[in-house]
Amino acid sequence: MTTVQDWAAPNPVTQNRSGLIGKGVDRYEGPLKVTGTAAYAYEVTPPAAPAYGVMIPAAIATGRIVSTDTAAAEASPGVYAVWTHRNAPEQGRRGAKVHPRSTAPARPALESERVTHFGQIVALVLADTLENAQAGANLVRIGYEADPPDVELSDHLADAGQPPGEQDVEIGAFEAAFAEAPVTVDDTWSTPIQNHCQMEPCATLAWWEGERCIVHTSVQMVKPAQHGLAETLKIDRDAVHLLTRYIGGGFGGKGQTYDELTLAALGARALGRPVKVAFSRQQMMHGTVHRPATIQQVRLGAKPDGTLTAMSLMTTTHCQRDGHFTEHASNFARSLYAAPNRLTGHRLARLDLPHAGAMRAPGEASGMLSLECAMDELAEKLGMDPVELRIRNEPDTDPETGKPFSLRQLVRCMKEGAQMFGWERRLPRPGQVRDGRWLVGMGMSAAIRGNFLLPAKASFTVDALGVITVRQGMTDIGTGSYTVLAQIAAETLGVPLADVRVEIGDSELPPAPGSGGQFGAATAGSAALMAGVNLRKAISELAAGDPGSPLHGGPAADVVFQDGVIAIGNRSEKLADLIRRAAPEGLTADGEIRPAEDARNWSQHTYGAHFCEVGVDPVTGETRVRRMLGVFAAGRIINHKTARSQLTGGMIWGVASALTEGNAVDPRYGSLINQDLQSYLVPVQADIGDLEAIMLDEADDKANPMGIKGVGELGISGAGAAVANAIYNAVGVRVRDYPITPDKLLTAMVAAGR
Ligand code: MOS
Repeated sequence: MTTVQDWAAPNPVTQNRSGLIGKGVDRYEGPLKVTGTAAYAYEVTPPAAPAYGVMIPAAIATGRIVSTDTAAAEASPGVYAVWTHRNAPEQGRRGAKVHPRSTAPARPALESERVTHFGQIVALVLADTLENAQAGANLVRIGYEADPPDVELSDHLADAGQPPGEQDVEIGAFEAAFAEAPVTVDDTWSTPIQNHCQMEPCATLAWWEGERCIVHTSVQMVKPAQHGLAETLKIDRDAVHLLTRYIGGGFGGKGQTYDELTLAALGARALGRPVKVAFSRQQMMHGTVHRPATIQQVRLGAKPDGTLTAMSLMTTTHCQRDGHFTEHASNFARSLYAAPNRLTGHRLARLDLPHAGAMRAPGEASGMLSLECAMDELAEKLGMDPVELRIRNEPDTDPETGKPFSLRQLVRCMKEGAQMFGWERRLPRPGQVRDGRWLVGMGMSAAIRGNFLLPAKASFTVDALGVITVRQGMTDIGTGSYTVLAQIAAETLGVPLADVRVEIGDSELPPAPGSGGQFGAATAGSAALMAGVNLRKAISELAAGDPGSPLHGGPAADVVFQDGVIAIGNRSEKLADLIRRAAPEGLTADGEIRPAEDARNWSQHTYGAHFCEVGVDPVTGETRVRRMLGVFAAGRIINHKTARSQLTGGMIWGVASALTEGNAVDPRYGSLINQDLQSYLVPVQADIGDLEAIMLDEADDKANPMGIKGVGELGISGAGAAVANAIYNAVGVRVRDYPITPDKLLTAMVAAGR
């Protein structure tokens, strides 16, 4: 059994002999992407001309399909088949698992006449070309019997229940402490539905080789997708070969699979040729998952000196009627600030909306938008600086569990950030700073996000050219997995980066959990490190035992790996020479990581602090982010460049959450109103001013053998609250209904007489 103590010994990554670890290394697959030669699932070249599937989404939120008229479509040029629930091929029953060790159950498509959300896929047209499939789809007529949809979260504040298996967490006696507190904040925030808007919609290319189904698709986790498809197709798990080599964004939305995967596989089997099926941008909004809306009540009670005595964050959110996903927006508050009396929990309403699901920093991304603004309000009431208030309430140990922190540098993030940003120039009284027509303000927020390590495997091979090949069923959703794996391999085996190949995104490779929960680099990377260490050992022993090697006789433990050369003292040879002579077929070693047995003895998170300066146009209500700085403590950084991209990308999403992003529900149809990137406002380059992310130099020795942690979800956590607090500092009114669009801000300013 592994304990964190077993990770303490130096290893090639922590020794960083060639200095590759921490450097801003260019993306391994970057040249392929910018030259258009990285083949995404839909663009992979199949072994024969493919047929094309076009999916048809339901036009009602809830009810039944009562008629399907497919005759015109079936007679349309080039159309091979039209499937609805009436004639779809047989599939595994929803939720069923035949193979006991499958990591995901069956997810059948076109199951029944029942419609449970707008945009549910209800038919598929297969044709010889995309155009003919689309033309055929336009001729399909589906008749519905619609029930009135129940889609308003605010209707369910009183009757939303506990999420399954959960209870509120209360420490001390919150209500009594809050009632007695001399200074209090009690306010409610709301956050809207958000859509992932990955650049690459979900897409699959499938074909069959005898009894084996080959699928190229776009998913974050290889094994669950492979196993779930096998259960759906009712075939052996190993009869599905799933590949996901390049992925145009995931953000949690590709943490599960959707109907296009199932339908492409079924279509290819039925037609006996490759089939491509993709979601359109519009279909993505309803046919996949979204971040659900939340309504959050925050109550804070403090002594006049700023010491929190009572703290509560209660979140009401929603999921699909048959679902159970919960946006855990209150969870982060359990580890953030000291307060002896605490109450946190969630309420979940089942609505006739599409499926809610995980989206970048699920929980923190929504939840920090309330609590971190409430802290700003409390600081103002107390006449305290917001940074000072947070430092005053910094806990020594985890405030709920009492566990020691593995490493917590939140205060350092806030202090260094304040200094770098020029926080001392902020005027506490709002509405005091003008720059031309702009009212200017500054705001800040803390950031916290959990850190995880999951079991993973990897294998490394060195060949007769001295090239190291990394093999792992990991994914790269745009985050940099390819690159950090290459760096770890190069550093571990002492070869130049150019001599590393990385093969990931394939169900036949050693399994890794994939990308999600910002655990990717730590999890996949740690397994890679282990494979690298094991391969070093194998190479060292090979050299020590080879009479033809200058290293013959060892000691094997003293072999140094650098610049493609292996050496003991002044005896050396090229790694490639050894392999060519002594193991011409190459040498392979496997590696494996598991969470340490005692990992849960520590409270382990990543931390940061956001600082933001906005300008608000008091005539139009427009907010522009002028400057933003994030300072982060997330363990040892493997690649400064890709980590910085993750952090700034998260911060940009935070800006969007504060200012523009969100989807509105049409109560008549249970649909989301914004269905493209013209109306769903993700930020573009011109929306973002001067943005910087700084990473503290640290290593968390309780996290994994490399002391690294995740950065993919930390950047968004708290970022929007810093923007909202800056808006308040600029104009002196608070809008607690995100996003803070000009209409809401102007209305609030007029109401406040500003
Ligand atoms: Mo994530 S939102 O856990 O991929």
